[in-house]
Amino acid sequence: MHCIRKVTDDLYWVGANEHRLALFENIHPIPRGVSYNSYLLLDEQTALFDTVDWAVCRQFLDNVEKALNGRPLDWLVINHMEPDHAASIQEILLRYPNARVVSTEKAFMLMRQFGFGVDERMEEVKSGDTKSFGRHQVVFVEAPMVHWPEAIVTFDTTSGVLFAADAFGSFGALDGRLFNDEVNFERDWLDDARRYFTNIVGKYGPHVQALLKKAGGIDIKIICPLHGPVWRSNLGWFIEKYDKWSRYEPEEKGIMIVYASMYGNTESAACALASKLVEKGLLNVILRDVSSTHVSHLIAETFKYSHVAIASVTYNLGMFPLIHNYLMDMKALNLQKRTFAIVENGSWACKSGDLMRRFLEEEMREITVLDEKLTLNSALSEDRLPDLDALAKSIIASMK
Ligand SMILES: Cc1cc2nc3c(=O)[nH]c(=O)nc-3n(C[C@H](O)[C@H](O)[C@H](O)COP(=O)(O)O)c2cc1C
Ligand SMILES: [Fe+2]
Ligand SMILES: [Fe+2]
Repeated sequence: MHCIRKVTDDLYWVGANEHRLALFENIHPIPRGVSYNSYLLLDEQTALFDTVDWAVCRQFLDNVEKALNGRPLDWLVINHMEPDHAASIQEILLRYPNARVVSTEKAFMLMRQFGFGVDERMEEVKSGDTKSFGRHQVVFVEAPMVHWPEAIVTFDTTSGVLFAADAFGSFGALDGRLFNDEVNFERDWLDDARRYFTNIVGKYGPHVQALLKKAGGIDIKIICPLHGPVWRSNLGWFIEKYDKWSRYEPEEKGIMIVYASMYGNTESAACALASKLVEKGLLNVILRDVSSTHVSHLIAETFKYSHVAIASVTYNLGMFPLIHNYLMDMKALNLQKRTFAIVENGSWACKSGDLMRRFLEEEMREITVLDEKLTLNSALSEDRLPDLDALAKSIIASMK
């Protein structure tokens, strides 16, 4: 059965929701599911913007068929070749033999690599090229590395609709609601939007900045991303979030305390630090156990807050493996402009603090590590309370 929504008078959402997938890209947990958005324009000629993941292709085909209502499909515009959107290209080409594919040279190369038979049906475009489907005129804008090198966005200059590819997307299935004003985005979606952006596109902040600069010159009325809600109001609010994330600027003054603890002593010290900070007036404190918090959440919250305290046991003369993994991920995603505090623990050769400091100072860019640190020998003892106090003071002072 079809399940479609009208975006404008002649534009339909024909995508599908995925509820069964545990891990997006086989790495990021998506307990709220995800949507793969595709859009069908019914102009004098018909144009489909992107497809969906193979897992939801059946639903997608029903949707396209319903929205076409017996008309042929003339054009398939491919903004992004990652298989969560592109996997159903071949199926569309088989079912709609007159459809021709519009995309970039790089995208056509990828289509051949993935084994799609597009050779006789390609129309290659590059940045600045325009195309008319009748009443609607669109312009193509290359958006390299948002999120793959071949990515483009397509702007409908007639309606002000931006087909934004992975930009402005979010984890989470739509489940009937389509528009940002049909959900409480800040309450129910922002965390997943941040987690999506920071983990998927976070590394490419400068490329996102370049795209935002290009977008600044056009009058966008509606943003149609490939995942999550369609934006038709309050666009500036969400664009500002993207601007912040892609400049690696924190959203909030506050601190995430991430701890690694086997027997609970480091955890106890992390709690003591949290209490001390709150006591001194810093209320924006969150505490996360690295062992029970997926690293995609840690990354998203690292992008959100100005400060991070990392508390790690020493583990075979190294830092706790999951702390190392978190730091490696942070580096891979290009995180910058944050202040870190260090808490270390060890029973006979405490090494984790120095190792974490070295990683942050030498492997990453624009990171401050506070001089004050808290060292535990097995457990927090009375004689270390002054160090705890000094660390808390230093964290608060560095926020001013
Ligand atoms: C597998 C393993 C390896 C460890 N390696 C070290 C080490 O190299 N140096 C050290 O000082 N302590 C080492 N420890 C001890 C813990 O870091 C130490 O007992 C710590 O206080 C535990 O804190 P927790 O109560 O937060 O788990 C190791 C513990 C385990 C289980
Ligand atoms: Fe993608
Ligand atoms: Fe995607």
